[in-house]
Amino acid sequence: MNLEDGKIKTLKNFFPIKVLSCGFLMCLLIMLIACERNIAGGSLDGAVIYSEGCARCHGPNGVPDQVQVARLNVKNLTDPLLRKRLSIDDIANQVLYGSTNQKMPSFANVLTKAQAKQVAHYVYSLSSPTPR
Ligand code: HEC
Repeated sequence: MNLEDGKIKTLKNFFPIKVLSCGFLMCLLIMLIACERNIAGGSLDGAVIYSEGCARCHGPNGVPDQVQVARLNVKNLTDPLLRKRLSIDDIANQVLYGSTNQKMPSFANVLTKAQAKQVAHYVYSLSSPTPR
């Protein structure tokens, strides 16, 4: 009987601490995964990746604003000639490794290869001729 009392007491004392510290660790982990590792939480939706990772320089629809053009010479992604110069793989590689002149940063730390490919497909869709 004495032993049982003791057990219940210990449980009562430690339960909230365990729950709290466990919750805290979980929060830390989630924050770490969310901010450190990935844009768009690992989403494979090219449009979402684009709006979170690329739109700040290339503009919401692929047309950069003049400030970015003057500052970094950001390229217009809706240019139909882009498709002639670059393949999907070229774009995915540029996303992963940055532009040769490094004005566009590398996304290797924040996007997976699969995500780079998806966003490259999305970039292609920005310059697709609208059906008439
Ligand atoms: C910090 C601003 C910045 C961000 C963010 C950025 N880019 Fe760029 N991007 C540039 C610049 C600057 C260039 C031109 C580089 C050069 O002069 O070769 C460029 C060039 C490109 C090109 C080549 C265009 C061409 O006509 O040659 C593609 C494709 C591209 N970016 C896609 C993306 C995608 C996709 C993302 C998001 C994953 C992205 N960029 C994020 C600045 C940025």
